[in-house]
Amino acid sequence: MKTSRRTKHLPRVIRTVPALRRAVANFRARGGKIALVPTMGALHEGHFSLIGRARNRADRVIVSIFVNPAQFAPNEDLNTYPRSFDADIAALAELKVELVWAPAVPTMYPAGFATRIVPEGPATAGLEDAIRPHFFAGVATVVAKLLIQCEPDIAVFGEKDYQQLKVVTQLARDLDLKCRILGVPIVREPDGLALSSRNRYLSPSERQAAPMLYRALKECAGKIASGAPLDAVLDYGRKAIARAGLRLDYFEARNANTLKSLTAPSGEPIRLLAAAQIGTTRLIDNVAV
Ligand code: PAF
Repeated sequence: MKTSRRTKHLPRVIRTVPALRRAVANFRARGGKIALVPTMGALHEGHFSLIGRARNRADRVIVSIFVNPAQFAPNEDLNTYPRSFDADIAALAELKVELVWAPAVPTMYPAGFATRIVPEGPATAGLEDAIRPHFFAGVATVVAKLLIQCEPDIAVFGEKDYQQLKVVTQLARDLDLKCRILGVPIVREPDGLALSSRNRYLSPSERQAAPMLYRALKECAGKIASGAPLDAVLDYGRKAIARAGLRLDYFEARNANTLKSLTAPSGEPIRLLAAAQIGTTRLIDNVAV
C-alpha cells in the first residue's frame, strides 16, 4: 500500500514496515532524538498531552495509530472501538506531528504470525489482568513490535493505564530495549473524570455518575495520607462507588512501583487504582497517595 501526504502540513501516514524503516533511517541520518507515542486512535486531550511531552523530549515525534485486536477478548468492544482516523490526522497536523505509523492488522500480524510476549511481574498484579486475562500479552506483544519497528529513543504512555505503564517499563528493561519509557499524568475533565476514548460511549446520566470513581479515589488517598487504616478506607471507597451505581471491578491500594498488595502503609509510595463498569462502559483510574 502507498504512503500518503495530502498537503505539506499533514503528517506523513506510513502503512508498511519497509517505508517506516526508510523514514526512521532518514530521521536518524538527520540526527536528534525520536519519540514514539503509541495510540489506538480516537485521539483526545490526553493523547495530545502525551504528544506535547514527546515533543519536549525529542526532535521527531512518531504517533502510531493501531487498534490492536490482540488486546481485546472476543466479548469486548474491538468492532465498536471508536475510530476517527481523519479527525486524528487533522489533530496531529495541528500538533505538527511529522509521521504517523498506521499499519493494517495483516501488516502487524501477517499470516503465520506465531509469537506472543506473555509478561509477568506487574502484569500479574491481580488488577486489570484479573478482569482481562488476555490484555497484557496483547499489549506487550504489540508494544514490543512498535518499539522495534519505530526504534524510538523515548516512548510516552499515559498514567491512566497505570498497570500498562508498569508492564511496558518492565518489558523495555527486560528486553534491553534502548528506548526510555516515560509516563505522563492523567488529563481530566473539569469534574475529575479521566479522559478516555471510551467516554464517548457514556449516556448523559452515566456521564454524570462517572466522576465518582475519581472522587472516591481522591478522598480515600487523602484519608490514607492522614493515617486512616487502609482496610477501612478501601471499604469506604468501594461502598461510595457502589452507591453511585458503578459496578466495581477493583479498588485497591498498591505499592506504586511494583503494584504489590499492601496491608498497611509502611513508608513506600502508594497508588490507589480502581476500575468499574457503568452501563456498558468500563472506566479505569488511579491516584497517587
Ligand atoms: O494504551 C493504549 O492505547 C494501547 O494499549 C497501546 C499502548 C497503544 C497498545 O495497543
